[in-house]
This record gives sequence, structure tokens and C-alpha cells, in this order.
Amino acid sequence: MLTALHALIHSDDPAATRAFLRDVLRWPFVSEGAEGDTGVGGAGTGGTDAAEWLILRSGPSEVAVHPTTWQAGDEPRSVPRQHTVALICDDLATTMDELRGRGAEFSTAPRDAGYGVAVMLKVPGADDLLLYQAAHAVAYSLPDDAGHQQRSAGPGSGGREHGDQQSGEQGQGHQSGEQGHRHGEQGHRHGEHEHRHGEHEHGEHQHGGRRMPVTDDEWHQHYAPEAIWSGNPNGALVAELAGLTPGRAVDVGCGEGADAVWLAGQGWQVTAFDVAESALERGRAAAESAGVEVEWVRAGLLSSELQAGAFDLVSACYPALQRTPERLAEQALLRLVAPGGRLLMLAHADVDRTTALEHGFDPDDYLDPGDLLTAASDGWSVERHERRPRRIDGGAGAGHHTDIVLVLRREQSA
Ligand SMILES: C[S@@+](CC[C@H](N)C(=O)[O-])C[C@H]1O[C@@H](n2cnc3c(N)ncnc32)[C@H](O)[C@@H]1O
Repeated sequence: MLTALHALIHSDDPAATRAFLRDVLRWPFVSEGAEGDTGVGGAGTGGTDAAEWLILRSGPSEVAVHPTTWQAGDEPRSVPRQHTVALICDDLATTMDELRGRGAEFSTAPRDAGYGVAVMLKVPGADDLLLYQAAHAVAYSLPDDAGHQQRSAGPGSGGREHGDQQSGEQGQGHQSGEQGHRHGEQGHRHGEHEHRHGEHEHGEHQHGGRRMPVTDDEWHQHYAPEAIWSGNPNGALVAELAGLTPGRAVDVGCGEGADAVWLAGQGWQVTAFDVAESALERGRAAAESAGVEVEWVRAGLLSSELQAGAFDLVSACYPALQRTPERLAEQALLRLVAPGGRLLMLAHADVDRTTALEHGFDPDDYLDPGDLLTAASDGWSVERHERRPRRIDGGAGAGHHTDIVLVLRREQSA
């Protein structure tokens, strides 16, 4: 029976490296004594001297397999065959503060590396360790037999197999790079590949038994076979906006476009964007049958080139946007709003994190109305921030019963 993953660090100064792992990372350890493996063996000595051969418990593990050659845009890249060690944390900013408090230093600033927000952690005597807040699906918390269960569910079940989390562009991301642990640029673009967390969504954060889409392509594939949502506009959006003088509106993560079509029918000049082309196609068809015009744009929030300050209404209904330490999504949303305009966000209330985590989705990774409230301090007023019962007549989101409704208004002068 296999019992654990054991990683090896080759260090110029093993005592300093071990002391770092013991005191800064605070990993529990056993000691093999001064002679290491060739010494006592077995139970360990109970010693704490870092000059002895400490073996440290490093926490839950997971393994991803990357190719040795890949394309970074037009450039071919390659690395020798190798094993690489990286650390995952839940919140990078907090973890960095915590580690700094214990003397850690970082050789880079945090950056959005696609697969997550990443920094290089200096390790005395050894190569830097990559530390990142993962934006990819994680396997380390799966129960022991999860992979087996998913495999036995068969290809028709839609269950994404363990190890099948990175495909297409993503499969080439998260690479070990030329220098030590540097990773590549492609793959999970943080902020652009958000999980579903939306209106008309399945209450269990699964869709027909499938795990949440992550990449643009997964969203596209997700929508491709058949319509997912009810085809009706979100009730809270209708309630909030009926009676407002129409102007320019943008629907962020518009999905199949029911909100955009409704807004256009109310006289708004609507731009609707989403990362999933298949969803946009459905939106186009809905607009055509409703006889309204909507500008459909395939883009992610952070990559869209929409004009700042151009929209009287920015609507983000269950938009599945990832949190970043730099608060990129919040800023991008707020930036779009014209002076005097409104930002509407709808989110599900009372999402059960444990259930969501079981389905590979961490609600804490996603933007919620509280994030917007924090980001919109000066020059904004709160017109609405409340819980509201949600009525829905079908579609994949019928399991959610309460909304959080947030409407922020930008001051004319701001
Ligand atoms: C839960 S759905 C909500 C759809 C729609 N707003 C609604 O209420 O029915 C989330 C949508 O966000 C899209 N999406 C995911 N990440 C995105 C991003 N970074 N920028 C824009 N849309 C994104 C997905 O393709 C999906 O259609």
C-alpha cells in the first residue's frame, strides 16, 4: 500500500533549510539523528537540532504532470525532465504576512500567473519555493477513493476525471520554467476562468453531475449541448431596474443572455459579454426572436476592452469572478460605471462552503457583494444591500432560494 508522497530538497546548507522548514513554515518533524538515513532509522531520535536529519511533515499533497515542451504564445519552451515542489496556500496576501512575521523573505512580488497568484519564497541554502494561491481545481482535499469513483462513473456521467482538470490551453500552463520553479504564463488565467456560481444554477454547484467549469473552453463546452438556464431574466434585476430611465448597460458574464435581452426590451442599449461562445450564440438567438439588438462580446472581465466610465448600468448577476489580492475584478467592475450610474450585483446567499468544496468549488475564491462594498468607498453610495427571497421557475439554478442584492451608485462628480 502506498502511504505518502516524500519530497526531497537538495540544499547547500541542509541545517539552514531544515531550520527554515521547521521554524518559518512550522512543519512538524521527526529526527533521524546526526547520521541521517544511515543512522538510527525507524522511530527517530526525538532530537530537534536542525543539523540532524529532520524529516518534516509537509501537509496534504497532490501531483500534476506537465509536458517538458510547450508553446508560450508563439515561443516554444522546454524544460528538462524534473520534479518540482510548490506550496499552495488559501490566501496569498495573508500567508505572506504570516510568513514574513516569522522571518520569511520573497524573491518576487505576487503576480497573476494564470494558474493562481504566485510568489517565490526564499529558502536558505536551497532553491526558492513557488508559493501560490491556486486558481486551478485542487486534488489535495479529495477523499482517497474519489478518483476511483469518478473513473467508475464512466465518460457519459460528465464527471471530470481526477487528473483531467487541465486541458487545452490549460494543459500547457502551470509549467515548470527555465529557472528552478518558475512557472509558465499559460493556463489558468486568474480572474478569467471563474467557476460557475450563478443564477439558474444547480443548488449543489454541480450541473448534471458535472464539476464546475473553470476555463473559458470549459464554460463553452458546458453550455454547448443544451440550454442551461431558464431563459427568463433574473427576478431581482427586473425588480431593481423596472422604472429606471434606460441608458447604456453592460451585462457581465451574461451567460445565455436572458437579462441582456430583457434590458434591451426595456430600451437599454446593451453590451453583453461572456467567456463562453456557446452561451453567446444562445443569447444572439434569443435576441433575434425577441426582436431586440444587443452587442454580444466574447471576453473575460479582465481582458475585455470596454470603455471605462461608459455604462449607466453595470449588471453582474452571479458572475463567478475570482477574488485576487489586488482586487482586480472589483476595480474592473467599478471602472465601467459612468458618473451617476449604477452597479448591480446579485449573488446567492447562504452557500454552504462544505458542500461546495466537496464539489471542487470554494465560494471564498469568488467575488461577493461584500468585496464590492469594500472597494467602492469614496464616491459611491449604497442604494440597496439586502437579502431577498428568490423566485425561479426552473433551469439549473432552481436550488437557490435567497439572493443578496447590491446596488451601488457612483456619484456624479466621482
Ligand atoms: C453563473 S453564470 C451567470 C450567467 C448569467 N449572468 C445569469 O445570471 O444567468 C456565470 C457566467 O460567467 C461567465 N464567466 C466566467 N468567468 C467570466 C469572466 N471572467 N468574465 C466574463 N464572464 C465570465 C460564465 O461563462 C458564465 O456564463
